[in-house]
Amino acid sequence: MRNQLSLQIGLLFFVVIVTVELILFSILYTNLVNDRVDEVMGDLLARGNTHRDVLQENYTSTTLDHVAIMESESDFIAVITDQEGSVITSSNAIAPEINTVIDHTDEENIPDEGIILESDWADEKYVATDSPIIMDGTHIGHVFMFADSNDIKEIISNLGRQFLFIGLVTVILTIITVMVLSRVITQPLVRMKEATEALNGGTHEVALSTDRKDELGELATAITRLSQDLKRVKNERNEFLASISHELRTPLTYLKGYADIIGRQNVAEEDRARYIRIIQEETAHLSGLVQGLFELAKIDQNEFAIEKEKIVFYDLIQKVVERIYPAVEEGEIEFSYNCPDDVVIAVDPERIQQVLLNILDNAIKYTPRGNPVHLEVFQDDSEVLIVISDSGEGIAEEDLKYIFERLYRAEKSRSRSKGGSGLGLTIAKEIVALHNGSMEVESNIGEGTRFKITLPKEDAHEEGAVD
Ligand SMILES: Nc1ncnc2c1ncn2[C@@H]1O[C@H](COP(=O)(O)OP(=O)(O)OP(=O)(O)O)[C@@H](O)[C@H]1O
Ligand SMILES: [Mg+2]
Repeated sequence: MRNQLSLQIGLLFFVVIVTVELILFSILYTNLVNDRVDEVMGDLLARGNTHRDVLQENYTSTTLDHVAIMESESDFIAVITDQEGSVITSSNAIAPEINTVIDHTDEENIPDEGIILESDWADEKYVATDSPIIMDGTHIGHVFMFADSNDIKEIISNLGRQFLFIGLVTVILTIITVMVLSRVITQPLVRMKEATEALNGGTHEVALSTDRKDELGELATAITRLSQDLKRVKNERNEFLASISHELRTPLTYLKGYADIIGRQNVAEEDRARYIRIIQEETAHLSGLVQGLFELAKIDQNEFAIEKEKIVFYDLIQKVVERIYPAVEEGEIEFSYNCPDDVVIAVDPERIQQVLLNILDNAIKYTPRGNPVHLEVFQDDSEVLIVISDSGEGIAEEDLKYIFERLYRAEKSRSRSKGGSGLGLTIAKEIVALHNGSMEVESNIGEGTRFKITLPKEDAHEEGAVD
C-alpha cells in the first residue's frame, strides 16, 4: 500500500488527460475525415465538370469516346447520358449500383455547375456526381462520375491507422508523464510519512530534504523542526527526572539516617531533639519540593488558574513585607522598599505575592548580614515595574541564563544551608508569563543581583481567570 496516494493521483491524472485527449482526437478525426471526403467529392465533381466543358466545346462522338477512354485508365468511372438519362457511352462496364444512381436522378433539375449525387461512402458502393452538358441554354446530356467508395474507405482507414498510432504514442507518453508527475508529488509525502512513522517508532530526529520552496517544503521543515523539538523535550524530560530523583534521594537519605539513629536506645536526649529538628527541616524541604513540582506540573498542563482582581498594589507589597520580615530580621538585612500608593492593577494577588516572596527570599538568602536589599515599584500608563535589588554575592555569567530552569541552583555544592530546591524562579517566571508580563535579571559577581518584573496594567487579551 506504499504508493497508494501516487496510484490514486496517477489514475486521476491519467483518466482526466486521456479523456481530454480522446475528445480532442475524435473532434480532429471527424473533421479530417469530413475534409478528406469533401476533397474527394470536390475533385470528382471538378473532373466531371472538366469533361463536360470539353464536350460543350466539341460535342462529337470522337470527343465522347475520348472521355470514355481517358477515364477507363483512371480509378473513376465516367458515364455520359443524353438528356433523358439513357447511356451514350461509359468508361467502364456499368454496375447495377451505377444504373440505380442514374435511374434515380432527376436530370431536369441539375444545376449548371453540377451536383454531388451520392456522397454516402459508408453505405453505398459508389459516390457519384452529375455535371450537365448545356448547349444554348438546354441540357443535352449528363456526365456522371463515379468513384468506388472503397477508395475513400481506404483513405479513411489509413487516417484511422495513423490516428491509432499517434493515439498509442500519446497514451504511452501520458502514462510516463503521469507516473513521473505523481511520483514527484507523492515521493516527498511518502518520505514524510516514513519520517513520522520513524518518530512514532522512537527515532529521535529525522532529516528530511527541505530544499523545496513550496508547501511540501514547508511541511518537511515543520516535521524536521517537530522532530528536533521532540528530541529536546525527551532530553529535558530525562534530565528533569534525573534531577528530581537526585533531589529526592538526598533528603530521604537524611530522613532515614536520622530516624534510624533516633530509634537506637542509647541516644542522648539533646541529640534526639536535634535529630528530630533535622528531620522536620528535611520534611519541610521535601514537601516544598513536591509542592513546587506539583505547581509546575499544573502550569505545564495549563491547569494553573490565575484569578485576577483589581487591587491597590501598595497593599500587596505591605503583605509581602510582613511575610518576609522574620527572614529580614534573622538575616539582619537592611531592607527598604518604596511603592506609590496609587498603583492599581489587575493581578492574581496570591500568585504575585508568591513571585515577590520568592525573589525576596533569594535576595535575603544570598545577601550577607548588614547589607541592603531594596524593593522599588514604578508605574507608567500601561505597566507596573517592580525592581528587587540585593547586594549579595551575585550570579555568575554562565549561571545567569539557567537560573529560570527547573531545579537549577547556581551554588554547585547545592548546600543545604540555603535550602532551596531550584524551582522558585521557574515557577515565578511562569506566573509572571501567565500575567502576560516579563521578568529579567542582571547580576554582577560580588556586587549584587537585580530582578525586574514588568506587569501590564490592563490585560490586552482578557480580564479574569486564565486557565
Ligand atoms: N539574589 C540572588 N543572588 C544570588 N544567587 C541567586 C539569587 N537568586 C537566585 N539565585 C540563584 O539561582 C538559583 C535558583 O533560584 P530559585 O529561587 O529558582 O531556587 P532556590 O532558591 O534554590 O530554591 P527554591 O526557591 O525553590 O526554594 C538559586 O539556587 C541561586 O543559586
Ligand atoms: Mg528561591
